[in-house]
Amino acid sequence: MIHISYDRRQYQEDMIENINLFDNVVEIGCHVGTSTRIISRLCQDGTVYAFDNSPESVKPMEQLKNEYQNVEFTLADVRRQEVLTEFSRKCDDIDVVCIDLGGGYHPDTVFKVFFIWSSILKPRVSLIRNRGLADFINTSTTTEDISSTEGFLSSSSDNVKIESLDELKLWTRNL
Ligand SMILES: C[S@@+](CC[C@H](N)C(=O)[O-])C[C@H]1O[C@@H](n2cnc3c(N)ncnc32)[C@H](O)[C@@H]1O
Repeated sequence: MIHISYDRRQYQEDMIENINLFDNVVEIGCHVGTSTRIISRLCQDGTVYAFDNSPESVKPMEQLKNEYQNVEFTLADVRRQEVLTEFSRKCDDIDVVCIDLGGGYHPDTVFKVFFIWSSILKPRVSLIRNRGLADFINTSTTTEDISSTEGFLSSSSDNVKIESLDELKLWTRNL
């Protein structure tokens, strides 16, 4: 399933409803760890792999790691190909991907981050916080029956390789 929210409380509700005790979770945009704390309590027998590119995250996330044994933090820009390449080599057993780059953040970037990370990690569930994407799905209609029951798009179900995501190369080169 893919759940989209804008309201922070709804994003947290989606976590409570979808994250299980043994899940391994990737959290993209953890900031100072408010949502990471919730996730780490929900998946006590799994691991939360939290990412953020803000130096502001470093100290609070270090403190959180000391408090919760199942939290790993990486200071990195998730748009970079090498970040996903390195992570997917280390960990290929992800159940849930949570993405919050800022609720009002460019929906195109948020969608691309979701598409690329979920195509490679193949989570059971993706939870995304973004106003533009909520607006888009609520405003659009289609007569075609195309959908996925997983946390990634049905068009990514084949064996997608990072090297084959040409868009990612173009993107990374310009960062
Ligand atoms: C609204 S905050 C996340 C708040 C957090 N989910 C919570 O509920 O406490 C958005 C975060 O996304 C991070 N972010 C934005 N673009 C990013 C990128 N390209 N790579 C990694 N982190 C990014 C920002 O640094 C910021 O800390």
